[in-house]
Amino acid sequence: MTIPRERNIYGRRSGRPLKDTQKKRLEELLPQVAVELPDVKQSLNPRTIFRPSVQEIWLEIGIGGGEHLAYQARHNPSTGLIGAEFFINGIAKTLAYVDEEDLDNIRLQHGDARELLDALTDDCLDRAFILFPDPWRKKRHNFRRIVNQETLDHMVRILKNGSELRIATDHFDYLTWILRFCQQHPNLEWQAEGRTDWIDPPEDWITTRYQEKAIREGRVPAFLSYKIVK
Ligand SMILES: C[S@@+](CC[C@H](N)C(=O)[O-])C[C@H]1O[C@@H](n2cnc3c(N)ncnc32)[C@H](O)[C@@H]1O
Repeated sequence: MTIPRERNIYGRRSGRPLKDTQKKRLEELLPQVAVELPDVKQSLNPRTIFRPSVQEIWLEIGIGGGEHLAYQARHNPSTGLIGAEFFINGIAKTLAYVDEEDLDNIRLQHGDARELLDALTDDCLDRAFILFPDPWRKKRHNFRRIVNQETLDHMVRILKNGSELRIATDHFDYLTWILRFCQQHPNLEWQAEGRTDWIDPPEDWITTRYQEKAIREGRVPAFLSYKIVK
């Protein structure tokens, strides 16, 4: 299925003014780690964007300030991490980790992750994360939610058989929405056996800034792990 590349982007694309160091990184470092999307109808094999080559490739959609992406990159040096984010301040924050810790296994797509999903080749990923996606609380905005049938179909297509799709949310209505879409997907198998499996954070987890805010405001995060079965 080919998705048109020109689509509405919902939400903010920029926030606070960037500091000089952030601007410098965006000018000088981002071009070195940026994922360039091919023309429409061309596909992207993510193996080609990592030098030296990596053993596995993981994708995170909506990386925010990049805390989780950097955490995984730091702890899995032989894995290539691709982070997609259309908020420039988030890209700038993530570049600080890349720069200060010399993380050479991170690649960043500044733009709409749905375009990247569309471009990636079949069975090219070993793991994917969608962590605290924007809940779009108002009912009339629900259609903007990134977890939907189309995204899940792409995930199943680009993730390898047996790999993990991990989703976290702190929003109860979005949780029931995600569960509904995932439960009815024939290629997704929820890994939870008991309550603690989705209430407790996974072992390889770092609390993101967004999650900290959720906890401060009394919302309880849920962590959903799905196995791709095809
Ligand atoms: C609520 S924040 C969560 C950020 C991060 N995952 C965390 O836990 O701190 C959602 C993020 O997803 C990004 N986002 C939403 N839709 C996106 C899309 N289609 N492509 C890329 N980024 C997207 C937003 O810009 C925002 O930074």
